Amino acid sequence: MSRPVLPALADYVADLEQIWASGILTNMGAFHQRLQAAVQHRVGIGQVTLWNNGTTALVAALAALDLRGEVVVTPFTFPATVQAIAALGLTPVFADVDPDSGTLCPSAVADRITTATSAILGTHVYGTFCDTDGLGRLAREHGLRVVYDGAHSFARRTPVFPAGPTSLGDVTMLSFHATKLFHAVEGGALITDDPELHERLTHYRNFGIRSEDVVSGTGLNGKMSEFHAAMGLRVLDLLDDEIDRRAELARRYAHGLRDVPGVSVIAGHGASVQYLVVRVDALSAGIDRDGLHRGLRELNIVSRRYFHPLCSDIPPFSGHPSAGYLPVARRFSAECLALPLHGGMDTEVVDRICAAITWQAASGRRWVA
Ligand SMILES: Cc1ncc(COP(=O)(O)O)c(C=O)c1O
Repeated sequence: MSRPVLPALADYVADLEQIWASGILTNMGAFHQRLQAAVQHRVGIGQVTLWNNGTTALVAALAALDLRGEVVVTPFTFPATVQAIAALGLTPVFADVDPDSGTLCPSAVADRITTATSAILGTHVYGTFCDTDGLGRLAREHGLRVVYDGAHSFARRTPVFPAGPTSLGDVTMLSFHATKLFHAVEGGALITDDPELHERLTHYRNFGIRSEDVVSGTGLNGKMSEFHAAMGLRVLDLLDDEIDRRAELARRYAHGLRDVPGVSVIAGHGASVQYLVVRVDALSAGIDRDGLHRGLRELNIVSRRYFHPLCSDIPPFSGHPSAGYLPVARRFSAECLALPLHGGMDTEVVDRICAAITWQAASGRRWVA
């Protein structure tokens, strides 16, 4: 469904030669420092720390905020978002999402806040930002922390984040996994504009080591190696070209699917080109999302039901009372399908995928009729 952006092998080999010559493989070496500065420059706001993956970064962010009790979270996200909460012994409490954006809905969050709540964790779904002003307001009213899973957020041209006091929450995570448009094979980042939290995160990432003599009791190994940072730097050079190419392909998808009733492109055709996602309304399309997913697979077209299953359906999270009634998120999870999108695709392949979807929907409608 996706293909990683890869630099010319010779360029990466040249980096490997430098790493070999330096003898420094990890522990915030020169490549790490350069990539951290480059990501910082591109993000433009807050202070960036690099991590070995987005999930570890998210766990560290929640731990460094010293949260207690319950965290109100979106069910329409990748399992890592909710697993990070559970990994710290905190309780994930689900709130429904907004019917337009699929991101955590502030009024639904308000209904879930109790005296045990310590934070709100939203996901910028497919790169569409949560209502950060609405969630920020709630957090201020109730004395809560706000954390964003921005795993999909780096797939846009600058400015990556809108300027404004609420855009990062207390801290925002990015994923640089190989399936993401920008990647470092494995990797991630945290961004915060709280200098004290930034400092804590910097130490947390390295076992809580503050100096040769002073070690904090909380920390883990979240460091990005030099091999990963070198890949990140090379991919960063190719990022804007990949964004432009994907935007062109996304426009082609939107054009090719414009007349298919019940199938609408809801992501990829805007500022973020991380994923190309269609929403399938079975009644008007004549085929449901799962039928389309299977039908495309038979034609050797790989699509992904993303996010599926809904995190509130995954045991043990499904046992929490808040997991029961989340109709808007359930509908998103049942109707969304991510289609192939990467810069190496030919325009003609997009046309063939659109034709396959058009045909499947039309035969479904005939069958229903
Ligand atoms: C929304 C979301 N959160 C978290 C993650 C996990 O990130 P990582 O693979 O860098 O640990 C992903 C990865 O796909 C994701 O899509």
